[in-house]
Amino acid sequence: MSILIRNARVVTASEDYRADIFIQGETIQSIGKDLPVQADQVLDASGKVVFPGGIDPHVHLDMPFMGTFSSDSYETGTRAALHGGTTMVIDFILQTQGKSLRHALEEWRGRSDGNCYSDYSFHMAVTDLNAETKKEIEGLIRQEGITSFKTFMAYKGALMIDDGQMMELMMEVKRHGGLVTVHATNGDMIDRLIAKFRSEGKRSPLYHYLSQPEITEAEASGRFADMAYYTGAQGYIVHMTCQGALDAVRRATLRNQVVYAETCIQYLLLDASLYERDPEGAKWVMSPPLRQKKDQQALWAGIRQGLVQVVGTDHCPFTWEQKMRGRDDFSKIPNGHPAIEHRMELLWSEGVAKGRISPNKYVELTSTNAARIFGMYPRKGCIAPGADADLVIFNPDQKHTISASTHHMNVDYSAYEGWEVQGKCETVLLRGKVAVDQGVLKVEKGEGKYVGRETWAL
Ligand code: URP
Ligand code: ZN
Ligand code: ZN
Repeated sequence: MSILIRNARVVTASEDYRADIFIQGETIQSIGKDLPVQADQVLDASGKVVFPGGIDPHVHLDMPFMGTFSSDSYETGTRAALHGGTTMVIDFILQTQGKSLRHALEEWRGRSDGNCYSDYSFHMAVTDLNAETKKEIEGLIRQEGITSFKTFMAYKGALMIDDGQMMELMMEVKRHGGLVTVHATNGDMIDRLIAKFRSEGKRSPLYHYLSQPEITEAEASGRFADMAYYTGAQGYIVHMTCQGALDAVRRATLRNQVVYAETCIQYLLLDASLYERDPEGAKWVMSPPLRQKKDQQALWAGIRQGLVQVVGTDHCPFTWEQKMRGRDDFSKIPNGHPAIEHRMELLWSEGVAKGRISPNKYVELTSTNAARIFGMYPRKGCIAPGADADLVIFNPDQKHTISASTHHMNVDYSAYEGWEVQGKCETVLLRGKVAVDQGVLKVEKGEGKYVGRETWAL
């Protein structure tokens, strides 16, 4: 099967030019002006932008969490991802404390394998580092292509590891060329604040926000950077939300250290005033919480300065019924919000269309940098001969409105209801096949494949 995309404005992380793209099988064969080739299918991209399929490196599908499961399965979540121009996701396996990493891998494979529409990969969250766990790291990297190891500095008793475990994990992962990622907030401080507010009868969604002040994230981000500096490990901070955490990364650069940072679309666009709505604020109960307008400005600046390399989603949806488990107690509201379907269009609309970032920066943030940092480049995240033909044909002129009544995620509300978006992912190709065209899904469950990843050195 071959596809020819004619008259595209091709945008990559470094280039912006007019060309045709010829795809044979799963990969890009050639790129050039007026290519003299015949193809089984011709797609006219006149007036459209073609960029690499999105890579969302932070999603939680079918994840057991806070006594329930996130409401998007691998099937519904990856299908929604494709509708929104994301062709690859990296999900998190969570080790159960007291059990092995391999045990968790098997459990996650049981839910994901054969069920995905988009391509997918896994980070491994190490929640219980011990002598046995340490021995598993090398095999996961070499045999399974799981090269990134997630840690939590919060969620004590379920996911959190202490600083000693963090340091040891960093040393082990470094030995084998992997990357350590972190949910960087100070779990002990947060737990005390939660207990204090609850004991005072302060139980509305606003107190979720107030129990995780900016300093809890700034402190943990700095501590993580310090431990990465001491051990020499490659570090990546997930879902960064605020000025204080960004400054911790900025300070690390002063000693010539690199700490990668990811923010998520919600932290760029939404703010903590939403928590004043009770009970509706539960929709945006996530950790870390939404912050203030000054933090949004700091994150946009961090993007432009190159301190923030990736914009993900931390997609972790829960239905309204699930959220209402915490109707009378914010600490019981399952943490997370739905966004997997709208990251690409929201970031174009709020970033590129509003002149905050260039189209090249957009591609870096949504695809190329994740491919590089997580060991998939140049197979993913670029438009070049030999790369997987994961492409979005994007209409920058088409406006539409986000709504739960039209989205594809398995959740009965939208965190962006009524949001007007400039630009639409019209046609999405997954490894050389039209996967979505004008809102119509063209691929089957199971066509999304597991992607094993490489290690790389700075
Ligand atoms: O609220 C969130 N972020 N839920 C998912 C788990 C995590 O911390 O990333
Ligand atoms: Zn987290
Ligand atoms: Zn997360």
